[in-house]
Amino acid sequence: MAKKVQDALKDIISLCKRRGFIFPGSEIYDGLANTWDYGPYGVELKRNIKNLWWKKFVTSRQDVLGLDSSILLNPRVWKASGHVGNFSDPLVDCLACHERFRADQLLEDKLGEGCCAGKNFDEVHQMMMDNKIECPTCGKTDWTKPRAFNLMFQTEIGVIEGEGNKVYLRPETAQGIFVDFRNIVDNVRPRIPFGVGQIGKSFRNEITPGNFIFRTREFEQMELEFFCEPGTELEWYNFWRKYCFDWLVNDLGVNKEKLRLREHAKEELSHYSNGTTDVEYEFPFGWGELWGIASRTNYDLTQHQNESKVKQEYIDPVQNKRYIPYVVEPSLGVERLLLVLLCDAYEVEKLENDERTVLHFDPKIAPVKVAVLPLVKKGQVKAKAEELYQKLLNRWNVEYDETQSIGKRYRRQDELGTPFCVTVDFDTVGEGESDPAKLGYVTVRERDSMKQDLVKIDELEAYLSAKLGC
Ligand code: GAP
Repeated sequence: MAKKVQDALKDIISLCKRRGFIFPGSEIYDGLANTWDYGPYGVELKRNIKNLWWKKFVTSRQDVLGLDSSILLNPRVWKASGHVGNFSDPLVDCLACHERFRADQLLEDKLGEGCCAGKNFDEVHQMMMDNKIECPTCGKTDWTKPRAFNLMFQTEIGVIEGEGNKVYLRPETAQGIFVDFRNIVDNVRPRIPFGVGQIGKSFRNEITPGNFIFRTREFEQMELEFFCEPGTELEWYNFWRKYCFDWLVNDLGVNKEKLRLREHAKEELSHYSNGTTDVEYEFPFGWGELWGIASRTNYDLTQHQNESKVKQEYIDPVQNKRYIPYVVEPSLGVERLLLVLLCDAYEVEKLENDERTVLHFDPKIAPVKVAVLPLVKKGQVKAKAEELYQKLLNRWNVEYDETQSIGKRYRRQDELGTPFCVTVDFDTVGEGESDPAKLGYVTVRERDSMKQDLVKIDELEAYLSAKLGC
């Protein structure tokens, strides 16, 4: 399995490093397993993803507000939410090589998703033995019984060590929203139904991180908690499922054939949920969860009311009713979506006598929108190209590249997913034996079709703007 994954993903991982998207973390110190740094192009990609999400789920909606809550919260938050007691994975050790794995993952790889739903640790152990689950490292089939391994990272506040100072790095951004529900209702006074969206880092001490940036211990989430009247939650649940799916396909251009909605079976649902769907994507290593959309009833707010003794009720001024709102939660990982967009965009294309690697990003996602390429790096050609570059920079993330042959520069931009290259040549500036009919024109080359258009410099910005759609 590990080898297959390595093979399928290795070209993308290598492109990401070679082109400055994603580097292995702490590399000069021999690395730190499963940590990744986002280089100059990766950080732009991430920023574009977060901005697009924020616009679609927060600012463009009258019924959603934004929030940026703390990573460190009072530990009682995690007691109330159930994370202290229950946020754990079943850890098993291979008795032969002592490698550690998640029992549920090993079983799901063989028997399918949801196969461990509702099973206790003894039953899970029995399933491992009955199905002769092999250790992915050494191939043996002897396992310890599963033990609960809590995924929260702990640290201490202040300088005095001791139990009283223990805090956790948040394992999800969602609880920060629930904790501020009262503040938002009392001070901002939104009317139900309304949502609160947040983007931020989360941390989980995953037993088996891997598959590049698919599962890491430090990641970012984009979460929305949508509060609604009890009884309306399933309508909203269906609404958000469609809204999320349509955003991926229609706005971000993700291939519909590689996406599916997987509704959790009854046995798989958390005890407080009356509907959960995973939006899954077919990664090179198989289908995996991209986005979780859950109808969570009033579980979280009720838990916080019980623990904090602060009422979490909403008073409906029109119907003159009091209730603890129900909530629908679409929860998405930034890096998961980034991996989907990379896998979806990646292509090694056969050309007549050659091949090229290209990232077919939607222009809204592309880290660089336009590259300006002077045919030669001197004289009026260079001067005009630099002038154009400065002008376009006011509007988009634009790159200027004068190194190597024009063909190599096109290939480099293809690998970055840059939708348009603008070439300034002798004709543009009327230098040497140039064609007077092309004076004041540049060549614009489109990434996917590789077609070239002659465009008047005065009309270039409008031309690019119309094509980029941003
Ligand atoms: N508040 C609900 C919640 O956190 P989750 O299914 O545990 O639900 C939501 O996580 C999303 O966060 C996942 O669908 C995935 O996109 C992302 N995610 C979760 N764990 C992750 C990890 N270890 N590495 C990267 N992304 C992760």
